[in-house]
Amino acid sequence: MTPTIPLSAPDITEAEIDAVTAVLRTPHLSLGPELVAFESALASYHSVPHAIAVSSGTAGLHMALLTLGIGDGDEVIVPSFAFIAVANAVLHVRATPVFADIDPLTLNLTPATVERVLTPRTRAIIVVHTFGLPAEMFALRTLATHHNLVIIEDACEAIGAELDGRRVGSFGDLAVFGFYPNKQITTGEGGAVLAHTQGHADRLRSLRNQGRELQRQVFVDGVEGRNPNTAPIDETAKDVDWLHHPAIGFNYRLSDIACALGRVQLSRIGEILGLRRAAAERYHVLLGGIPGLELPSLTLPDKEISWFVFVVRLPETANRTRIQASLAQHGIASATYFAPIHAQPAWHECLTASPRLPVTESVGSRVLALPFFTRITSAQQEKVTFAIRKSLILNG
Ligand SMILES: Cc1ncc(COP(=O)(O)O)c(C=O)c1O
Repeated sequence: MTPTIPLSAPDITEAEIDAVTAVLRTPHLSLGPELVAFESALASYHSVPHAIAVSSGTAGLHMALLTLGIGDGDEVIVPSFAFIAVANAVLHVRATPVFADIDPLTLNLTPATVERVLTPRTRAIIVVHTFGLPAEMFALRTLATHHNLVIIEDACEAIGAELDGRRVGSFGDLAVFGFYPNKQITTGEGGAVLAHTQGHADRLRSLRNQGRELQRQVFVDGVEGRNPNTAPIDETAKDVDWLHHPAIGFNYRLSDIACALGRVQLSRIGEILGLRRAAAERYHVLLGGIPGLELPSLTLPDKEISWFVFVVRLPETANRTRIQASLAQHGIASATYFAPIHAQPAWHECLTASPRLPVTESVGSRVLALPFFTRITSAQQEKVTFAIRKSLILNG
């Protein structure tokens, strides 16, 4: 049965539909002016020099690791309480993911949990801003510098979140975003990598486009909207260049149709994040008095949360499976964000020993994501509250 209240939903207005339609009336469906405009808007929103749009957050993580030279024999510290792509991307470059535990309040890696799993082979940390709550980037950066490590910020769940007034995505050596339709803003499928140096940006742009030579990869069919961050295109050689590949790359491009959607979504991000914060505050009022139900913090010092999901923690005694079934009977979707990666069936044969992750395991067994999206109504949230209350009485 399709739930009447979904877990997530994109917020698409006529402006997005018009922008996408306008692209379809041009011949520039890929590597066109919308790519340039979306990348410029992303870079400027984050006050970083370079943004490279890619086909997914997973593609972004893969290329970020390659760009930073992570490979065979290297260890990369990652949270297990995260989406599986975080650890899979490390395997994709033949490095070894090493799982670190999380803080029980913020659900993020901390310097202490990272330090516990450092070895002489550690080269990088992928710091996830879990559920849109910024991780302790200043302390993690100090630790990384001390041990000569690079940091990839995984901000897939956190666009617009701030730490000390600075947006996440601007702290890491590279940062990755994802724009799947459950995210705060969407491009359908898609993602982006933020970079601080021209060298990193050039490498990322080449890798995403089959290793083509940078100067010649954008606008093979015209001059219009040329990417200002690249050297001039050699127009005379364009036919040959499309089949000239100095590097081994991928097709991780993001179409202009998707970029047009993303550009308009990004222009509305203030409104979107405001509505999501209001929805989180409403859940706090509604669910606040339910005994044993732990709610996510609404505020934390020096941090601005970008509300991605609304994840509660059930009482230890509650039967989560039955609660989910009972919510489903009311037409309400829910999900167990996150089932720890190290416990996934796909990971059984990848691990030589079970990592010690007590917080991850305890939190992982109790979390429940409730319906949460930009246009969720008070009536829908009241219905969710009624169903949770009832199912906790029966199964709590
Ligand atoms: C923390 C995190 N990293 C990476 C990804 C992967 O992004 P995508 O689904 O766009 O490949 C996600 C997706 O939900 C995520 O939440």
